[in-house]
Amino acid sequence: MNIIVTGGAGFIGSNFIFYMMKQHPEDRIVCLDKLTYAGNLSTLEPVMDSPNFRFVKMDICDRAAVYGLFEEEHPDVVVNFAAESHVDRSIENPEIFLQTNIIGTSVLMDACRKYGIQRYHQVSTDEVYGDLPIDRPDLFFTENTPLHTSSPYSSSKASADLLVNAYHRTYGLPTTISRCSNNYGPYQFPEKLIPLMIANALADKPLPVYGEGLNVRDWLYVEDHCKAIDLIIRKGRVGEVYNIGGHNEMRNIDIVRLICEALGKPESLITHVTDRKGHDQRYAIDPAKIHNELGWLPETMFKDGIKKTIQWYLDHQDWWKTIISGEYQNYYQKMYGNR
Ligand code: NAD
Ligand code: DAU
Repeated sequence: MNIIVTGGAGFIGSNFIFYMMKQHPEDRIVCLDKLTYAGNLSTLEPVMDSPNFRFVKMDICDRAAVYGLFEEEHPDVVVNFAAESHVDRSIENPEIFLQTNIIGTSVLMDACRKYGIQRYHQVSTDEVYGDLPIDRPDLFFTENTPLHTSSPYSSSKASADLLVNAYHRTYGLPTTISRCSNNYGPYQFPEKLIPLMIANALADKPLPVYGEGLNVRDWLYVEDHCKAIDLIIRKGRVGEVYNIGGHNEMRNIDIVRLICEALGKPESLITHVTDRKGHDQRYAIDPAKIHNELGWLPETMFKDGIKKTIQWYLDHQDWWKTIISGEYQNYYQKMYGNR
């Protein structure tokens, strides 16, 4: 298969490329990425010279460029990871989220219609379902849970999902959508909870926990997410949505405490800061559909995954120290001042 992977210089996209090139060396991967602040070409260095890999710097919103690439590559499958992905940034400035996450998705699907495709896969998020109450541990998101978004980010992702369904129904585009819970693992940009706390703790900087830190997320090791997407593009039913989750709910404060303990840092670094506006309380996925239909189950226990992740950030300090500079630094300054 010839697979276009958009957003492959980011966190999950790069892990997906590594996974696919190892599992399916017969496939060709074309990575299309705009290299925003969140995209890092150095991440892809290990595969850059591989004969069945190509990197193209491109904006998914650039219709002419995207059509040109499809004309050259004739992809069989497109997996769309490209997105503005950080909730706090979307609260600060929604516009680019609407542009990339909604318009970009429609441009990619128009290219798929024009040039023909076996599968268009949209990488979506559990945030499209909104949140669940913390005191109702019996409730989970299923694929039938109504979309009920909280942030500009999740609203843009839900809008894209609606467009994907529309392109399937109206034009017969062979689409699938996956909605995954919070990922963690190597190459995650250090603005997200886990890598931010690791980087700050290592520098003995305060650890900014929003509010009381009681919000709950369902954490999944990134490789398990990649395996699920691989299964969906090969065996998933066209027109369907698949939820992906780890059955691994944790409170933010407990994650931060665990990171302090693992790094031998004092919990006195934890600083409670102003809560995120519209902060979702709890995410929890019911992954029964992907388990029953495709046999997928998360394989990495959180205690092992977080150990591997912390070790990765310890071993790859160059990777994230280079990132914590420039544009990211300006953003961090705005959010947290000199903390
Ligand atoms: P990320 O921010 O680490 O990476 C996004 C990548 O997309 C970057 O390489 C960036 O350069 C690229 N990009 C951004 N705008 C682009 C554009 N206009 N054209 C081309 N490339 C562009 O994000 P991530 O955490 O790896 O998330 C990837 C996808 O998975 C997103 O669609 C996100 O909504 C979804 N998702 C993420 C999580 C999570 O926990 N991180 C969970 C569920 C779903
Ligand atoms: O659920 C899937 C989503 O997970 C993805 O769609 C998003 O792209 C991804 O960014 C992630 O969104 P979250 O908002 O859940 O992740 P984040 O790492 O930003 O925050 C996790 C929790 O930690 C959340 O409750 C907010 C809190 N938090 C976050 C940061 C950055 C803090 O308390 N302090 C922080 O500094």
